[in-house]
Amino acid sequence: MSNSIKHLAVIMDGNGRWAKSKGMARVKGHEKGAEVVREITTFCSNHKEIETLTLYAFSTENWKRPKLEVDFLMKLLNRYLKKELDTYNKNGVKFETIGDLAPFSKQLKETITKTKEATKDNSKLTQVLALNYGAQDEIVRAVNSLIDKNREITIDTLSNALDTPYKDIDLLIRTSGEIRLSNFLLWQVAYSEFYFTNTLWPDFNSSELSAILENFNLRERKYGSI
Ligand code: FPP
Repeated sequence: MSNSIKHLAVIMDGNGRWAKSKGMARVKGHEKGAEVVREITTFCSNHKEIETLTLYAFSTENWKRPKLEVDFLMKLLNRYLKKELDTYNKNGVKFETIGDLAPFSKQLKETITKTKEATKDNSKLTQVLALNYGAQDEIVRAVNSLIDKNREITIDTLSNALDTPYKDIDLLIRTSGEIRLSNFLLWQVAYSEFYFTNTLWPDFNSSELSAILENFNLRERKYGSI
C-alpha cells in the first residue's frame, strides 16, 4: 500500500530543551533549528510527491516568551529569509506564509514580501511558514470575512476563506515528545495522519523524515469509510 503525500506539516518543537541539554542558551537551539529547516525543506523540494511543507515557526502564543527570545526569533527569521533566497530559487521553492503578519516589524514584513515576490514562480515545493499563526484565530477571521461578504457558511466556503493554501494535510509530525496540536491547523487536520517523535527539532534530519514517510505509507487511510 502506498499513500500519496502532497502536504506535510511539522510542529518544530524542542529547541529550548536541546540547547539546555547542552548547557547553552535557548536561542542556540533556535539557531540550530533554522539549519534543520533548511535541510528538511531541501529534502522536501527533491521529494517527488510533496508539494507543500507547512512549518509552525511562531504561534500567536509565542509572544508570551521573554522579549529577548522573541526579538532573537524575529532577527533569526529575517536573517534566514535573506540568506535563503538563493537556495529557494536553486531548489525551486516558493515561499508563503499563514498567520497575521500585522504585528511584525516593518523590516521583517518587507523581507517576507520580497521573498514571496522573488520566489513566486518556483514550482517544486511551496514552503509555508506559520507566523503569528493560531488556528482558532484563522477560523474566526475566516468566518468573519464570510459574514462581512454576506456569504453562506459551508465546509467549502469556510475552507476557501482560511489562510492555508493546499488545505488538507496528509501527515502532521510533531517533534520533542509532546502529544498535542497547540492550536496548529485545527481545521486542516480533519483527516490527517499524525506522527509524534521524541527527537528534539534540532536533532531531526532527513533520514528520520524518510523513515516517517515509510511508516506513513503503511497506514490505511479510510476517511470515514470501511
Ligand atoms: C519550539 O521550540 C520552537 C519554536 C517556538 C520556534 C521554531 C523556530 C525555529 C525552528 C527556528 C527558526 C525558524 C525558521 C523558519 C528560520 P521551543 O523553544 O518551544 O522548545 P522547548 O519546548 O524545548 O522549550
